[in-house]
Amino acid sequence: KIIVTSGPTHEPIDPVRYIANRSSGKQGHAIAAALARLGADVRLVSGPVGIADPAEVTTLHVETANEMKDAVEQLLPADAAVFVAAVADWRSETSAGEKIKKVAGEGPPALQMIENPDILAGVGHHRKRPSLVVGFAAETQDLVRNAEAKLRKKGADFIVANDVSHESGVMGGDRNKVRIVSKAGVDEWPEMSKDEVATRLAALIAERLKTITV
Ligand code: CTP
Repeated sequence: KIIVTSGPTHEPIDPVRYIANRSSGKQGHAIAAALARLGADVRLVSGPVGIADPAEVTTLHVETANEMKDAVEQLLPADAAVFVAAVADWRSETSAGEKIKKVAGEGPPALQMIENPDILAGVGHHRKRPSLVVGFAAETQDLVRNAEAKLRKKGADFIVANDVSHESGVMGGDRNKVRIVSKAGVDEWPEMSKDEVATRLAALIAERLKTITV
């Protein structure tokens, strides 16, 4: 049984506005599909995306980081968990019940932001921690150094580090170039399609689970 998170989260400001990011869900959904092809019982927790639920995968749809966290924790225990979602780090402290109106002379409203829970770190240090925990690191600078810090801080076994700077075209695009960062070191994969990254990562996860469970 493998949990996968995918897509962005939407954090409401009022009934018609939200804070979001550019994640398409393509990489996370492709990983869920690839794991299912290898025979895993995959539970995908997806933020709002414009792509279809993958075949042979049980998909739960959520909007906010808090909803994603609750859904993931309710799915524990699991053999592995792969955190691909681009979870919003912050949300507006309050979400207005009615649409916030422009008031002449008052200027724009100030948004007070508060931090969202870190879902990966919560599971990485959970008493029901899966045997294998895989995170992603979306970086625009200092890729490997930041990924190594996330590995330690979040209690992950692997961090799949990808460059999401605007020039890379990763966010929303079909291709990806990743490095697999673990305690054992850094493995740089060539640029390939997100489906190929998913197939290779699923094979690596299957391999790892075999050595853990044998
Ligand atoms: N993640 C998560 N919950 C959050 C934030 C991130 O589960 N609230 C997970 C992501 O799914 C990913 C990993 O943590 O697997 C790293 O996400 P990333 O956005 O790269 O890092 P952050 O922890 O948000 O740190 P920063 O924004 O400072 O780079």
